[in-house]
Amino acid sequence: MKTIQKLLILAAALTVLLTALTACGGASDSLKAVQEKGVLVGATSPDFPPFEYLENGEPVGMEIELMQAIAEKLGVTLKIEQVDFDSIIPGIQSGKYEVGMAGITVDEKRKKNVDFSDVFFTAAQKIVVQPGSTIASKDDLTGKTIAVQTGTTAESVCMDGGYELLSFTSNNDAVAALTSGKADAWVVDSEVAATLAEQQGLVVLDEAMTEEPYAFAFKKGSDTLVQAVNQALAELKADGTVQKIFEKYDVAYNG
Ligand code: ARG
Repeated sequence: MKTIQKLLILAAALTVLLTALTACGGASDSLKAVQEKGVLVGATSPDFPPFEYLENGEPVGMEIELMQAIAEKLGVTLKIEQVDFDSIIPGIQSGKYEVGMAGITVDEKRKKNVDFSDVFFTAAQKIVVQPGSTIASKDDLTGKTIAVQTGTTAESVCMDGGYELLSFTSNNDAVAALTSGKADAWVVDSEVAATLAEQQGLVVLDEAMTEEPYAFAFKKGSDTLVQAVNQALAELKADGTVQKIFEKYDVAYNG
């Protein structure tokens, strides 16, 4: 037999072996992998109250509690990494984090890079201004400076609108740009707008710029993990746990 023939046979045998290994649930079984090590690594950007924020340096909030309840159902411990929002999806793609839990809006562009769980809440993009501002609707934003968080849907919707933007990796800096007068408006998701506006004496306009369905994000191909998370989420919705978590933070649950 010629060397080339031998090599071809070897390559074919290897392919069969690899396919068999994958089918047996080797590295491709994302749920098994997480359960075997007993830890689920979640990434969040804790600048998004009441979904996730810091209390004594520890991430807390509705989404943290929800993912903790899900992890419990999967029989694993949740390990939370604090990350800038725009690093979450790249970190999931590279396998650094197993789940993104950061009020992440499901959109078509992101679906190309990550897989999403079922939606657990639907928010909207809102405009926040200083009391007495002349901005009363989206139409008044033309020619004004708007603060947003880098990599968010707020940033893309404002870019599409052709507005002048100031982008900040942290949402805390985006709101600070408004309170300090560096920006004329801050565009952010509805519940976060309501929470921080109340804390800082700002005004949230009624108009919703977009609809923002939130879900958890996973590395592409994490089918078994996503299925298990969806199953846990469905059980937690059915037994009233999700509702209770939202009520604790004074948010009307709509998931
Ligand atoms: N929902 C928006 C998005 O997906 C904003 C999310 C920001 N999240 C955060 N934890 N800072 O882009």
